[in-house]
Amino acid sequence: MRLRPYREDDGPATLEVFRRAVREAASRDYAPDQIDAWAGAVTDAAGWADRRRSRRTQVAEVGDRVVGFTDVDADGYVDMLFVHPDHVRQGIGSALLEWARTTAEGLGAHELTTNASLTARPVFEAHGFTVVAEQRPVVRGTALTNFRMRRPLGGSTSGAGTSEAGG
Ligand SMILES: CC(C)(COP(=O)(O)OP(=O)(O)OC[C@H]1O[C@@H](n2cnc3c(N)ncnc32)[C@H](O)[C@@H]1OP(=O)(O)O)[C@@H](O)C(=O)NCCC(=O)NCCS
Repeated sequence: MRLRPYREDDGPATLEVFRRAVREAASRDYAPDQIDAWAGAVTDAAGWADRRRSRRTQVAEVGDRVVGFTDVDADGYVDMLFVHPDHVRQGIGSALLEWARTTAEGLGAHELTTNASLTARPVFEAHGFTVVAEQRPVVRGTALTNFRMRRPLGGSTSGAGTSEAGG
């Protein structure tokens, strides 16, 4: 497994990872109507690719196959963290989060923040994040429980971000 920056042609592969991760890994934590709302939230493949390109996205590859991705902004906000179901519990999510941490530190961020799914919460907790608040955002008319989480970097308490369909 290796990490590399997002490339122009990674749109379809990252969208496939997102959809498979939601439909298979996250489906044990959410009801079918919630999974349909979440997985179906992305209808515009070109818009998806534009957002991944513009959001400092890092992908994980096994061979030449994209198996996961994340992102981080200059405030330390992690919007996306998704790993293909065929490759979970292999440390890929952890490697991506470690990339996000070192990248955010390099950009001068004082904390990492995210909106974590029920499925991802244990992974973020394993990386030092704590829950700030439980949330019920509405996606395509359906409420989906997630958790605002943060992990200080260097002792500060500032930072914020906006969410798409990730966490
Ligand atoms: C959440 C997700 C990205 C984790 O990726 P991953 O590559 O499997 O994570 P890792 O293998 O690095 O796991 C790191 C640690 O997190 C914890 N962890 C991971 N999955 C867990 C689970 N299902 N239950 C409890 N703890 C878990 C463990 O401590 C694990 O370490 P271990 O395997 O040595 O015990 C992946 O499961 C996924 O894409 N899920 C569905 C989509 C989703 O909810 N994405 C996040 C949106 S906010």
